[in-house]
Amino acid sequence: MRDLILGIESSCDDTAVALVDVDGSVVASAKVDQTHIHRAHGGVYPEFASRAHVAAILPALDQVLLEAKVTPKHLRAIGVTRGPGLIGSVLVGLNTAAGLGMSWGIPVVGVNHLRGHLRSADLELARVKYPATILLVSGGHTILAHLKEPNTIAVLGTTRDDSVGEAYDKVGRMLGLGYPGGPAVDKLALRGKPSIPFPRPMLNDGLDFSLSGLKSAVSRHLAAKDSSVAEDVAASFVDSILEVLTVKCRRALNAHRSASLVIVGGVAASPQLRECAEVLSAELGVALCLPPLRWATDNAAMIALATWDYLLAGKCPKPVPEARLSIVEY
Ligand code: KG4
Ligand code: ZN
Repeated sequence: MRDLILGIESSCDDTAVALVDVDGSVVASAKVDQTHIHRAHGGVYPEFASRAHVAAILPALDQVLLEAKVTPKHLRAIGVTRGPGLIGSVLVGLNTAAGLGMSWGIPVVGVNHLRGHLRSADLELARVKYPATILLVSGGHTILAHLKEPNTIAVLGTTRDDSVGEAYDKVGRMLGLGYPGGPAVDKLALRGKPSIPFPRPMLNDGLDFSLSGLKSAVSRHLAAKDSSVAEDVAASFVDSILEVLTVKCRRALNAHRSASLVIVGGVAASPQLRECAEVLSAELGVALCLPPLRWATDNAAMIALATWDYLLAGKCPKPVPEARLSIVEY
């Protein structure tokens, strides 16, 4: 008899369902992407996101159960994102999970999405060694934290304005690259030279971040219509972001004894960031723990693995929506 968690994620623009074992093996997973719906709006359009989740969630569920030949009797619990996120979107996952839990007679755990990202680096293979310094860089969040052990989290720094993913998306829009901007900006940057001296906000100032000034500098530069090419603008923007992230991670690792550097969240899919992180971890002699590429952006496997942590710690937050949640909360 298999003992699995069914994870459900619908906090933004991905409808995802996955079945995960206690050791982080992913037995089956499905993700329905809504990019084609939001592209025309230059960003996620919340009402369309909720409607698309409603249409996608039950087919995605059927797909993973059939693929894995799993029935409700194989499931220990359902873990579903309760926030932070777009409340209409979160509610689709929560309501689906509540209905399934009631009819199958199994518990439903409301999972903190940030805790999910945190655990993504251990999917398929346990990688993280503690104590660990973690950088979470996504569309909604930028958090630097230190974990003495798996559930002892101290936040070291956060962003005072835009998140890293948001800065990538806004610069992508300014460069006419569509939504989401992150992967497109990275790709364009590979063909350019980092020749424009964009600011490195708060570089010499603690462990917090501020990215809105960098985004405005890119906007002013483009408005001035000088002769620089888009490739160089993208390369210079990425260079600035990478320097800020590297300096902050080095500062955190030097101040807090760590066996590993963990980088998670959608921006952890960036090949340039992954390369910088490799150089930094080799320089400081710490293990680098990155999620496999497909588990860097939003997914349900990370929510299921976080649910195992909750159950093992005897925690069962209710599956009710929460617009704001800190990473230190279960
Ligand atoms: O974790 P995620 O899927 O959703 C949130 O929880 O926000 O992160 C999405 C963010 C978007 O801002 C997207 O542009 C960014 O991750 N992203 C990237 C890359 N792939 C996704 N940013 C830079 N380089 C990438 N390759
Ligand atoms: Zn996310």
